[in-house]
Amino acid sequence: MSEFWDREVVERKHNEWMALLPVRLHINELIGGGEPKWPIDWFESWLQGRKFERALSIGCGAGALERDLISRDLCERIDAFDASVGSLRIARETASSDRIRYYAADFNRCVLPRKTYDIVFFHQSAHHVSRLEYLFTQVLLALKSGGLVYLDEYVGPSRFEWSAERLAPQQAFYAALPREIRMSDELPLPIQIDDPSEAVRSSAIEPVLRIGFDVVAQRPYGGTLLSVVLPQLKTTDAALAYCVGAERALLAAGLPSYYAVIVARPKRRLLALIRYAAVRLLNRWRSVRARR
Ligand SMILES: C[S@@+](CC[C@H](N)C(=O)[O-])C[C@H]1O[C@@H](n2cnc3c(N)ncnc32)[C@H](O)[C@@H]1O
Repeated sequence: MSEFWDREVVERKHNEWMALLPVRLHINELIGGGEPKWPIDWFESWLQGRKFERALSIGCGAGALERDLISRDLCERIDAFDASVGSLRIARETASSDRIRYYAADFNRCVLPRKTYDIVFFHQSAHHVSRLEYLFTQVLLALKSGGLVYLDEYVGPSRFEWSAERLAPQQAFYAALPREIRMSDELPLPIQIDDPSEAVRSSAIEPVLRIGFDVVAQRPYGGTLLSVVLPQLKTTDAALAYCVGAERALLAAGLPSYYAVIVARPKRRLLALIRYAAVRLLNRWRSVRARR
C-alpha cells in the first residue's frame, strides 16, 4: 500500500474532482453554510480564537495540512506521520518550519504517546484505516483533557458495500448525460482496485468515532453524485454546472453526503475505553465465528 502512495504523491493518477473550481465553490458553500469557506477557515471561526499547543496529524501525506496550520499559527507544534516514505520526504522538504516533526508509522498499529496532544487531525486518511476501534482508542489516550479531533473525510459507502443497486441513482444520472462527454456507457463501481485500503471501512468512521467521542460540529459537503460521476466525464463548464446543480438537488432531497468535516471531543475517558474494548472483543468474536 505505501508503494501506491509513494507513486501517487509524485504523479497523481486519480482524478481530482474536488479541485475543479465550480465543485470547490459548491463544497465551500456547504461548509460555510451559504458564505463559501475553506474547511480550516470554517474551523478557525468555529474555534473563536482557540489555538493549540501540540497537534498530531495522522496519515499526513505530503504535508499540505501541517503547512497550512503552521502558517495560520493555529498550532504551535505538530507531529505528523504517514506510512509512505516518499510522501514524508516531500513533506519534510517543503515544511520550512522546525515546528513540524514527521515520522513514519502505520496507523493500524501505531502506539501514540499518552495525554500529549491538544488536537488530532485526519485529512482524507481515516477512510484508509481498517482498525478504526484500535486507532480511535489510541487517539483517546493521546489527547489531553479538553482535546479535540478534527476529520475532513470520505464517509460514504465502504469498498465492499458497492453494488449495481447502490450505484443506481448515480448511474441513472450518468446515462442521461450526452454520450460525447461520457467516458463509458456505464459507470464502473467506484472502487479503487490499485489501493486495497481505499474506503476500507469508510461508512464505519462516524459510528465508530461516536463510540468514544461526542461530535460537537459537523459540516457534510456532498460528493454523493460528483465524486462518482466526475471521474468518468470529460468535463466542460456547462457539464460541471449541470452536475453541481444536480448534486445540490439530490442533497436537498435527502441523499446523504459522502464527505464531511467532523469535530469531536472525547466522552468520559474510562467509559469510552471500556466501550472500545468491548466492541473490539465483539468484532474479534464475530470474525472467528465467520471463519468457522
Ligand atoms: C488520501 S491520502 C491523504 C494525505 C494527506 N492527509 C492529504 O490530505 O493530502 C491518504 C494517506 O494515508 C496514508 N496511509 C494509507 N495507509 C496508511 C497506514 N496504514 N498508515 C499510515 N498512513 C497510511 C497514505 O500514505 C496517504 O498519504
